[in-house]
Amino acid sequence: MSAPQSDVLNIETYPISEEKDIGVIAWVTINRPEKLNALNSEVMSSIKAMVAWAESTDSVRVVVVTGAQPSPPPEGKRAKPNAFVAGADITEFVGKNSEEIREKFTDNAVEALWSLSKPTLAMIDGFALGGGCEVACSCDVRIASDRSRFGTPEINLGLIPGYGATQRLVEIVGLGKTMEMIMTGEMIDANEAHRIGLANHVCSPEELHSFTLNMARTIGGKSSHTLRVGKATIRAALDTGLTDGIAVEAESFAELFDSKDQEIGVDAFLNRTSPEWEHK
Ligand code: COA
Repeated sequence: MSAPQSDVLNIETYPISEEKDIGVIAWVTINRPEKLNALNSEVMSSIKAMVAWAESTDSVRVVVVTGAQPSPPPEGKRAKPNAFVAGADITEFVGKNSEEIREKFTDNAVEALWSLSKPTLAMIDGFALGGGCEVACSCDVRIASDRSRFGTPEINLGLIPGYGATQRLVEIVGLGKTMEMIMTGEMIDANEAHRIGLANHVCSPEELHSFTLNMARTIGGKSSHTLRVGKATIRAALDTGLTDGIAVEAESFAELFDSKDQEIGVDAFLNRTSPEWEHK
């Protein structure tokens, strides 16, 4: 199945290894830079289609989500700022009632991305606000340039976050910081995001692409089966208490001993070779 095409979502693929055929990284760029990549209905349905494609395409090992860079401005016009995503498209809120919003915000593309069983990285260069912060929080790892800014400004629209920040942000940065971010609506810079654990890494805009690609390649070179089990097991920490969570881990760990990749990994370590995973 080829990658779904859309004007508002570019999908490129990069090989994980130059030497070995071990699948690809799907590099997904939200492409509405003139609107700071705001999430309109078309972007959301394109993200859903991308997730369905990534889930069902074996060669896709890792997904990187990012935002398109602004084009140079026309003569005499102000340049648009860099953005990952500046939130849900506010123009689509006008005149909506609760019924329409309920439909739009239930089973949405951010939940689909969160549910993808494969590793996901958000590469952030610029504003990650509202739904943008939430797309980032629905990825497994967030890597940001030092000019990025994060925030949940919905309070300024008389709203609260609707794509998961009241829940997932709490898990990532804790209750107090989430309360502060949502109640003040103020932005934090990349270094503060790093300090509170919202950004896993911060680097210069020039280094951002290669840093992210390297991490995606490192992750993509592991057994896809082990990664899938690992992601699901870590996620269990969010929905279960410690005792039940440890039981989930014990079961996942034991089940991996039925997989060939465990044998291959241990054997490669003992023989000082590189593992050639069955589930590449
Ligand atoms: N929805 C729809 N359009 C948006 C948008 C959003 N969330 N965020 C930015 N845009 C549009 C602007 O309307 C503007 O469009 P225009 O050039 O056709 O008028 C364009 O993107 C550039 O944004 P602009 O506001 O001119 O840039 P700025 O540098 O002055 O300010 C921000 C940047 C991010 C501070 C500002 O755009 C902003 O506050 N955006 C909304 C953030 C938000 O509240 N997100 C949560 C939504 S629930």
